[in-house]
Amino acid sequence: MTKRCFIIGHPVAHSRSPLIHGHWLAEHGLAGSYERVEVPPAEVPALIARLRAGEFVGGNVTVPNKEIVLPLLDRLSETARAMGAANTLWMEDGRLYGDNTDAYGFLAHLDACVPGWAGRTETALILGAGGAARAVIYGLVERGLSRILLANRSPDRAVELAAAFPKTVEAWPWQEISGLVGQSNLIVNTTSLGMSGQAPLEIDLSGLRPGTIVDDIVYVPLETPLLAEARLHGGIPVDGLGMLLHQAVPGFERWFGVRPQVTDALRAKLEADIPAG
Ligand code: ATR
Repeated sequence: MTKRCFIIGHPVAHSRSPLIHGHWLAEHGLAGSYERVEVPPAEVPALIARLRAGEFVGGNVTVPNKEIVLPLLDRLSETARAMGAANTLWMEDGRLYGDNTDAYGFLAHLDACVPGWAGRTETALILGAGGAARAVIYGLVERGLSRILLANRSPDRAVELAAAFPKTVEAWPWQEISGLVGQSNLIVNTTSLGMSGQAPLEIDLSGLRPGTIVDDIVYVPLETPLLAEARLHGGIPVDGLGMLLHQAVPGFERWFGVRPQVTDALRAKLEADIPAG
């Protein structure tokens, strides 16, 4: 039987996940499918019923359904519970499981780009306080980072997210971000600023210490203005495409029983699909 998987979102047409899973299915010679399904929030329960009935073996969940899906699941991973959101679903022994692989994807890509980064990172600066920021912070706390500075345009959201990690995360005003650059060994942009068609991220990197890792989870364009600027100041740029690729690994393994690799060939395929900045 051909195993079918989905990605459900609203909108979902932009998702590049079918390219990733399609590449792995072909690479491993597996008879499976991975389909985009446009599912507005009100239709999520009906889609979940189709999954439970056996039409699909599992799938991914994207905006705005990651939170909506939670009460419909039987078992949540610790990470999904902590995030309050699931992006990966699968059936196992008649039960519907949910996990959140965003933190894993973020860390796996950082590990691949800058081996040993955690050992020399004391302070991280995180820009943004949405779901992506929560995943990044969760991952960094898991790796034992002792100090995380968090700044967001809407200060209340930064304060609320910081309160979830009281010993480690400090909320700072958005206006202060340039002044925090020099204290940080790792800077992560989790906002949509710098994405094609969005406003630029305005931050002065002149105080950047050489060797500081600057990670932008935006990947359209692949080299954002933030990463280009970081390179000029001796920073180590880490792009957002790798997080997208790595977060897909655990789902594919659950659905198809093979742990896939994030290879240069896969990356090249995705890069070819991303318009230049
Ligand atoms: P995600 O779940 O992908 O993180 P989100 O919850 O919509 O998405 O969060 C988007 C982030 O980008 C937020 O931190 C948002 O700031 P606000 O909380 O103030 O909305 C940030 N963001 C989006 N547009 C921005 C802008 N023009 N200036 C500053 N921050 C912006």
